Amino acid sequence: MFRQGFLFLSQSDGAKRLLTGTPITRTLSRRFVPGEGVEDLIRAAREARDEGLRITANYLGEAVRAEADARRAASAYRRLITRLGEEGLSAGVSLKFTQMGQDISRGFLSENLTPVLETARDAGVFVRFDMESSMYTQQTLDAFEELWAQGWRDIGVVLQAYLRRTAGDVRRMIQLGAPVRLCKGAYAETPSVAYTDPTRVRANFIECMRWLLSDGKHAAIATHDEAVIKATLRHADREGISPERFEFQMLYGVRRDLQKALVRKGFGVRVYIPFGEQWYPYLMRRLAERPENVLFMAGSVVKESPLGFLWPEPRRRDR
Ligand code: FDA
Repeated sequence: MFRQGFLFLSQSDGAKRLLTGTPITRTLSRRFVPGEGVEDLIRAAREARDEGLRITANYLGEAVRAEADARRAASAYRRLITRLGEEGLSAGVSLKFTQMGQDISRGFLSENLTPVLETARDAGVFVRFDMESSMYTQQTLDAFEELWAQGWRDIGVVLQAYLRRTAGDVRRMIQLGAPVRLCKGAYAETPSVAYTDPTRVRANFIECMRWLLSDGKHAAIATHDEAVIKATLRHADREGISPERFEFQMLYGVRRDLQKALVRKGFGVRVYIPFGEQWYPYLMRRLAERPENVLFMAGSVVKESPLGFLWPEPRRRDR
């Protein structure tokens, strides 16, 4: 119920108008999004690099319906890639097909995306296509396969362990030799397409992770779930898979302790750093993932009110 509520809010324009205006929501967003401008991204990326983390940068935006907006997003990505190069930051980028104009037309998407891919290729930057709701899964995989067939490399896709179809998609990507980021999945889905029991999602994640590590190309294991991370380390150890053949990926602002601990042990960890003005749906998905984030937000509201002195100091568990 809680999760569904926040995922519903993530798509509500009314809630978006109401909440993006409040200072509290803006403050909370800073935990997960370092800022709205490219320089905020660069600062966060430098800090991450200095801690031994790899980076994938995301210019926030999705569900773009107007050509002008999609063109603006493509230009922003090209500037971002150039700026990362100027800073000597070796980073990848993550983007969404719907941000590039997938909902407008396939022809427009291709025309708008190609210059971004060319800029990335020339700069040696890896492009990962985020996966959106199940409404887009097939279109996203088709668009990705089309690019792959055209000869684009240094691109990768994302598969979501909560979807019932994912085991088949993992096999297909292994067959293609395409790099996969495996995550649990962050959208509201119905039981007809997705597992709803967290234990089942985790089991599917672990099964897909094993195939990707053993037979896939540079698997990206995107999770903060310690049980999945331990299962990954056990599988790699048992099968003699060296740390160069896979990496962990985590979100900016989430489980920094775990990110650092894995780096210290010699594993590759890439942090997903988003920036931009369109942070609202991203923030709602992060709130949906963890009830404590909302308590934190409620605490901030009360603390800034005249009764703030009644609110207990939080136990700092942020790691
Ligand atoms: P789970 O939700 O069970 O969390 C495990 C633990 O991690 C929690 O107990 C908590 O400690 C911590 N944690 C997780 N989320 C937190 C939060 N928001 N705030 C604070 N702590 C939190 N999804 C998608 O549908 N398409 C995509 O393209 C991507 N891309 C992507 C890239 C990367 C690098 C990551 C790490 C994740 C994604 N995701 C995604 C999101 C993913 O699907 C999933 O929603 C989140 O990673 C949370 O799931 P976990 O696997 O961390 O497990």
